[in-house]
Amino acid sequence: MADTLPLLLRAARGEQVERPPVWMMRQAGRYMKVYRDLRDRHPGFRERSENPDLSYEISMQPFHAFQPDGVILFSDILTPLPGMGIDFDIIESKGPIIEPAIRSQAQVDALRPLDPAKALPFVGEVLSRLRQDVGNAATVLGFVGAPWTLAAYAVEGKSSKTYSVIKAMAFREPALLHQLLGHLADSIAAYVRYQIDSGAQVVQLFDSWAGQLSPIDYDVFAAPYQKRVIDQVKATHPDTPLILYISGSAGVLERMGRTGVDIVSLDWTVDMADGCARLPQHLGVQGNVDPGLLFGTPEAIRERILDTVRKAKGRKHILNLGHGILPGTPEENARVFFETGKAVHELLGAAV
Ligand code: CP3
Repeated sequence: MADTLPLLLRAARGEQVERPPVWMMRQAGRYMKVYRDLRDRHPGFRERSENPDLSYEISMQPFHAFQPDGVILFSDILTPLPGMGIDFDIIESKGPIIEPAIRSQAQVDALRPLDPAKALPFVGEVLSRLRQDVGNAATVLGFVGAPWTLAAYAVEGKSSKTYSVIKAMAFREPALLHQLLGHLADSIAAYVRYQIDSGAQVVQLFDSWAGQLSPIDYDVFAAPYQKRVIDQVKATHPDTPLILYISGSAGVLERMGRTGVDIVSLDWTVDMADGCARLPQHLGVQGNVDPGLLFGTPEAIRERILDTVRKAKGRKHILNLGHGILPGTPEENARVFFETGKAVHELLGAAV
């Protein structure tokens, strides 16, 4: 068994597998007591994510607790920004703060191309330690933010409900925004390659806020830059599966499938059967249980997992939530999610 490649990696590459692999977005984080205790001792998000010992320890917390099929690097999509000259912090209860926000031609001209090994050596160190220690018991996942979503943070300066500052830029100064998006795309492609070279076996691209765009604008400001990252990575690392996640993606699902990714991660507002029908058969699907189900009863969680797996039958499927697990989720319910996912075939057999 130890010689067999991990389940999630085999599934992501399109091999026939014994059951859908299972992991969770944000599976390391505030819903876990061990994480909250560590956060009390190390209150700075940047310390927790940029000190390799802490980032490694946090990445392993859900693996120790639940043995998911994927272990995701503990970091943030904003982590590479300082390496390009954009400073940030994450403030408890406020979220990310980018100060100063990037809004002028002079600021965009001053951005540096990211040199990941120099700017983010801790990421390489954590990924190689994870890869070595996890072995074939799970797949090590890297991740990045896609250009539109990173630009949204850089330009807005914080989380936004309306995206009015970046949309003002998109519809008044498109050339400036395209320059920023292009810079981000080339730097992020280099970062993905660095993560893969360091030990990431699958990489997820988060374009979390691309669902805020009308499809006609998604085609101009999001998709070409997702594709630019994917094309550059595939040119040098064709065998590493790439997953694309967007929150509120129902209006752009088919478009996501045309970016060159291997797996489309669905949020929970799309029925899994409809999502599968809208994507070509060769593409995998990930998801898509509503994170809110984990506030429900164990029976409700189990039932929804079975429904999801049944609907994805015949497809390459990675069982996951439709977005990150929410703070306040009972840890026993996260356990129900993982345990049900691992026993899904026995449970489905029993259900028919
Ligand atoms: O999945 C994992 O376990 C890996 C860790 C991870 C984090 N952020 C850690 C984190 C991942 C994959 C991310 C990605 C991320 N970060 C995204 C894309 C995924 C998504 O949710 O759509 C986005 C948009 C961000 C930006 C960001 N960072 C936000 C919106 C927040 C939350 C702010 C808040 O207070 O709710 C963060 C902070 C953050 N990143 C936390 C964690 C565990 C919570 C803060 C903390 O632990 O102190």
